Amino acid sequence: MQKDKPFSQACENNKAPILEKLVELFKQPGTILEIGTGTGQHAVHFAAHLPHVVWQPTDHPQNAQLSRAWIDDAHLTNINPPIALEVLNGDWSRLPAIDGAFSANTAHIMAWKEVQAMFRGLAEALPKGAIFCLYGPFSYGGRHTSENNVRFDLSLRTQAPHMGIRDMEDLEALGEATGLKLEKDFGMPANNRLLVWRKS
Ligand SMILES: C[S@@+](CC[C@H](N)C(=O)[O-])C[C@H]1O[C@@H](n2cnc3c(N)ncnc32)[C@H](O)[C@@H]1O
Repeated sequence: MQKDKPFSQACENNKAPILEKLVELFKQPGTILEIGTGTGQHAVHFAAHLPHVVWQPTDHPQNAQLSRAWIDDAHLTNINPPIALEVLNGDWSRLPAIDGAFSANTAHIMAWKEVQAMFRGLAEALPKGAIFCLYGPFSYGGRHTSENNVRFDLSLRTQAPHMGIRDMEDLEALGEATGLKLEKDFGMPANNRLLVWRKS
């Protein structure tokens, strides 16, 4: 019987352009850790089209089971059950060994100290030379890249002061401090970016 599944239209819209990049970026077999999996639409789409990798979804304990229905319905052998991981206070040592990482639309939802914890945790967990792909909207030198992003940022900050679109200068400095070097910055549809960080 078809279960009601949580659904994100944004995921449906952005999964194909993101996959186009991931196919080039995650060429080697290995385990890819996803932070903040959400509905699981990305996880099943990427696992289905990257059969040489094992996809490891994780999310905040409050949302960790949100992806279950999509994962169960997909019947894929290369996607693991979701693990609860809160990036700031969670136990990163419970995760399997990983070879790469991916996260979408999380940096503007997390508080800055959680973004810092995500980078620190990944820098610790990733082997040397491995990459972390971070998708979402970002600003440059304090300037948003579109009017839509100005409005989105304002709506986030109005909802909760700890949220907001992150600036590339801050992220690059964080990457430098944690041992993740920004290697690529791809423009994506709808004023989003795909940032590729490499563990140095
Ligand atoms: C806007 S949703 C994005 C979901 C999905 N990646 C997507 O692109 O649709 C933000 C996600 O970040 C997760 N998240 C927020 N704070 C977190 C934290 N401190 N640790 C782990 N995940 C967190 C939320 O649970 C949620 O699943």
